[in-house]
Amino acid sequence: MTQRDLLTIVLAAGKGTRMKSALPKVLHAIAGRSMLAHVLALAQSAGQSSGQSRLAVVAGPGMDNVRAATLAAAPEASVYVQEHQRGTADAVLAAREAIAAHTGDVIVLYADTPLIEPDTIARLLHALDSGAGVAVLGFDARDPSGYGRLITDAQGQLLAIREEKDASDTERAIRFCNSGVMAFRGDGLLDRLGRIGSDNAKGEFYLTDIVEVARTDGLSAVAVSCREDEVLGINARDQLAAAEAIYQHRARLQAMQNGATLIAPQTVWFSHDTILGRDVIIEPNVFFGPGVSVDDGAEIKANSYLEGAHVGANARIGPFARLRPGAKLGSNVHIGNFVELKATQMGDGAKANHLAYLGDSEIGAGANIGAGTIFCNYDGFFKHKTTIGAGAFVGSNSSLVAPVTIGDGAYIGSGSVITKDVPADALALERSAQDERPGWAAKFRQMMQRRKLKAAG
Ligand code: UD1
Ligand code: CA
Repeated sequence: MTQRDLLTIVLAAGKGTRMKSALPKVLHAIAGRSMLAHVLALAQSAGQSSGQSRLAVVAGPGMDNVRAATLAAAPEASVYVQEHQRGTADAVLAAREAIAAHTGDVIVLYADTPLIEPDTIARLLHALDSGAGVAVLGFDARDPSGYGRLITDAQGQLLAIREEKDASDTERAIRFCNSGVMAFRGDGLLDRLGRIGSDNAKGEFYLTDIVEVARTDGLSAVAVSCREDEVLGINARDQLAAAEAIYQHRARLQAMQNGATLIAPQTVWFSHDTILGRDVIIEPNVFFGPGVSVDDGAEIKANSYLEGAHVGANARIGPFARLRPGAKLGSNVHIGNFVELKATQMGDGAKANHLAYLGDSEIGAGANIGAGTIFCNYDGFFKHKTTIGAGAFVGSNSSLVAPVTIGDGAYIGSGSVITKDVPADALALERSAQDERPGWAAKFRQMMQRRKLKAAG
């Protein structure tokens, strides 16, 4: 691998008016992560295989949330503001300071084009190593309308990029299009960007004109092609959904390639950061929010929803289970239907098989939580903790009013409302003694039947 110094410039200035949203376009999410953060991750992975790497993001004026999202995902990035949207070359020039301070290669990514794979960027950079001054990522468009067309010669050299509005009829017939992603040799780049004019149909400074400027300087330009589904640019919500579908398709394939079984892959929804071990089985209609990891051999049964959770080896979750952030399950844990966990740790082999809310708690290994158990963790002001010892047995329909601790091996009688700590191996019962009247039911029935006959006349 060639060691290069790399500056990545991410253009994120678009307001995205077609999204009809209070959020800037690039902060809309795919698989639980903003498009911007997807592209920043791509930039970071390109940087990793380089020597010195720098990251610059160009935002629009007043986009403080874009700045904040950038720094959250990539604290090393510098954020520049493009005051007026005067075209893609002008946007790149907003990062003038970063370009001036840099001597290696430069790559431009669009924050609204989040599906590009690291290998593709590596191929693009490789073209620079093979002698190109400019390398443009192109694709064969099913429908090229709206894209810049890549004009090449018989040797495959890139001669120019023609924006649709400026293209002749013959140029418009070309289906090989500009994805927007470009890589440049850095030396002389600022000078070349400065020579781009705005004498075109839109009156904008087109970054695409850099191809002709570079060729005037005797540099060669090439196009590197990729699949169309990598370079889908998102301008509207239907395209956001299309990008999500492409992302999910890849994530499902990847999960299966890594050794998970997905019975109905098209019904399983992954987050960008879902981690699955080997021989994990995922039944239909399972949704993974951010921050879930599942160890080897675990089974996630149908219609379960998991976020911010860890599932231990060989655990069995669902059907219809909900794991909320902070659910940490040891190996062989069983969570059954309509059980909700939040900020709860369960030791190896612990079970909660039916209808329960277990919040802010620690449950020891091998404990059994009966049907209908509720941990009353909230008093309307503060959250409190419930601790259940190893091997404890909580009878069905019990309420544990936190803060409360149940010792190892203790028993809680069904239907109890537990407000005080229970020592290890004790039985705690909280319900009134059972009142029994022998023969009462039979007498009652006789009396009522007589009354009914009388009423009927
Ligand atoms: C651009 C390319 C076109 C390519 C297409 C791929 C140019 C001139 N054209 O066209 O060849 O086929 O992308 O999707 O580059 N932006 C700014 N500031 C600006 C203008 C744009 O930050 O002043 C950002 C936008 O937010 C967007 C990106 O640059 O993320 C592309 O701009 P856009 O106006 O959408 O360019 P296209 O017309 O789609
Ligand atoms: Ca666009």
